[in-house]
Amino acid sequence: MSVRRLSREQPASFAFSEATQADIQFWLGKFPPNRRQSAVIPILWRVQKQEGWVSEPALRATAELLGMAYIRVLEVATFYTMFNLEPVGRTLIQVCGTTPCVLRGAGEVMDVCRSKIGPKNHMSPDGLFTWQEVECLGACVNAPMAQINDYYFEDLTAASMAQIIDDFAAGRDPQPGPYVDRANSAPVGGPVTLTDPSLFDGSRARKVELPNRVQPEPAA
Ligand code: FES
Repeated sequence: MSVRRLSREQPASFAFSEATQADIQFWLGKFPPNRRQSAVIPILWRVQKQEGWVSEPALRATAELLGMAYIRVLEVATFYTMFNLEPVGRTLIQVCGTTPCVLRGAGEVMDVCRSKIGPKNHMSPDGLFTWQEVECLGACVNAPMAQINDYYFEDLTAASMAQIIDDFAAGRDPQPGPYVDRANSAPVGGPVTLTDPSLFDGSRARKVELPNRVQPEPAA
C-alpha cells in the first residue's frame, strides 16, 4: 500500500456546483438522516467529477455537509486510490500494472505513456494528460488494458496506445473496448465453441425423467 498525501498546493476554497448539489441530494436520499455519513464515498466521487480531484477545502466541505470529523473524510480519500489527491490532466490514463497485464505487454504500454506524456503521476505541462500505474482493474482477460477517464481500453499494444494518446491530444474521441478483432472478451476472430444453432433453437428440448423422482401412487 502506498503513502498518499494531499497536494502541497491547495485552492483557497471549494463550493459544490448546482449539479453536484442535486446529485448529493440523490445520494443522501438513500440513507436514513442519522446515517448520512454512509454517502461519503459517492459524494467524494461526485466532487471529483466536478473538480477532477479532491482538494483539502473539498474534503472539509464534505465533512461539514455530512456532519463528520474532517479526519474521517481524509482517511477515506487517502485510502482509496480512486480519489485523486492532486490535479490531473483532462485525460487520465490508468494503466494496469498487475501480473497478467505485465505478462501481456503492459510494460511497453507504459513506456509509450512515459515517452509521450512524461513521468507517471505528473500532469503533462499542457494539462492534457496524467498517466498512472494502477492495480488490477478486473479486465485481465483483455490484458493489457488501461482505464482512460471512465472507459476501458483493452488488448492494447504500444502502437495502439500511441494512437489513442495522439487521438486524445488532437481532440478526437477514440473508441473504448478491445483493440483486437473480438467482441468484449470473446475469442479473437469470433466464437469457437457453442456455435451450433440447434443449441439455442429449442430443437434439442425433450422431456427427461428425473432418476429420483417420487412416482405417484397407483389409483386404488
Ligand atoms: S491484471 Fe490487468 S486487469 Fe487484471
